[in-house]
Amino acid sequence: MPDKPEGPQQLLIEELQDMYDVEKQLIRALPKMAKAASDEELGNALREHLEVTKGQMQRLEKVFESLDLRARSKPCKGMKGIVEEGQETMAEDREPVLMDTAITAAGRRVEHYEMAGYEALRDMARQLGLKDAAQMIEETLREEIQADKLLAQIAKRLLKEAGTAQGSKGSEEKGQRSKGSSSRGSSQGGAGASKKKSGSSRQKNSAAKGSSHSGHPLTDHEEIRQWAEERGAQPSCVKGTGSKDDTGMIRLDFPGYSGAESLQAIEWDEWFEEFDKRNLALIVQDTTAGGQQSNFNKLVSRDNVQERGGSNSRSAR
Ligand SMILES: [Fe+2]
Repeated sequence: MPDKPEGPQQLLIEELQDMYDVEKQLIRALPKMAKAASDEELGNALREHLEVTKGQMQRLEKVFESLDLRARSKPCKGMKGIVEEGQETMAEDREPVLMDTAITAAGRRVEHYEMAGYEALRDMARQLGLKDAAQMIEETLREEIQADKLLAQIAKRLLKEAGTAQGSKGSEEKGQRSKGSSSRGSSQGGAGASKKKSGSSRQKNSAAKGSSHSGHPLTDHEEIRQWAEERGAQPSCVKGTGSKDDTGMIRLDFPGYSGAESLQAIEWDEWFEEFDKRNLALIVQDTTAGGQQSNFNKLVSRDNVQERGGSNSRSAR
């Protein structure tokens, strides 16, 4: 470390302290985000990023060490604001698939904020000839970019799932219903109850709060089977996700669902074996906000729904 206490070196130290606080705040926020997520992949991604973040904090400590400094944090107001906004979002009442989409957006804000911070830090370190520090910061930067990419991918899938249900509602409204198939929701978590009609979706969402058409988790095999059979849904798995001894990702396949080509029918026994092995719960909705039978369903981690308690766990065992 060059000996001048002020100037670029001091700026670098302050930026380091800022990022140290960013990571600390994130370590507190990520478990809450993971808990609020219904989507299995999203929950896992957030939990994994928590571990990565802990590593990043330790790496920052090493950067401080390489500069003969003790790790200290300087409160980062920007991150505080992003985290607070994320918490507000998670407190809102939304369909699980839309809540998950909102969580990916909050997560991506965090990642981009961190990417900007680390990129600036890396450049400062390089400029000052602090090779080790620059390399460590670069490593963290790459992890943040990776995390953002994964969240973007998940968001894309979630939007598709939300859109599938919305799209089928659209054709129903145009009177193109055939054998009732177009009113079927996605087997992968379509937002059956709050399909948007321009301008009124907000009111619809708030009207749905805590009512009988909010999703509830099922873990009982008979109840799940009955719910699915009432809707003509078949047990299935996603093609290409399994192996010889592994069923892969299970789903419910609804007649007329456009993603059917990607699904493969399996027996209920196999479906439930995978369901229990992976400790899953099926969040279902009985009726839409409009009172029609809903196909909304989503597979989530059982731990998640049990922790939530309240009306959400009325059928969970
Ligand atoms: Fe980070």
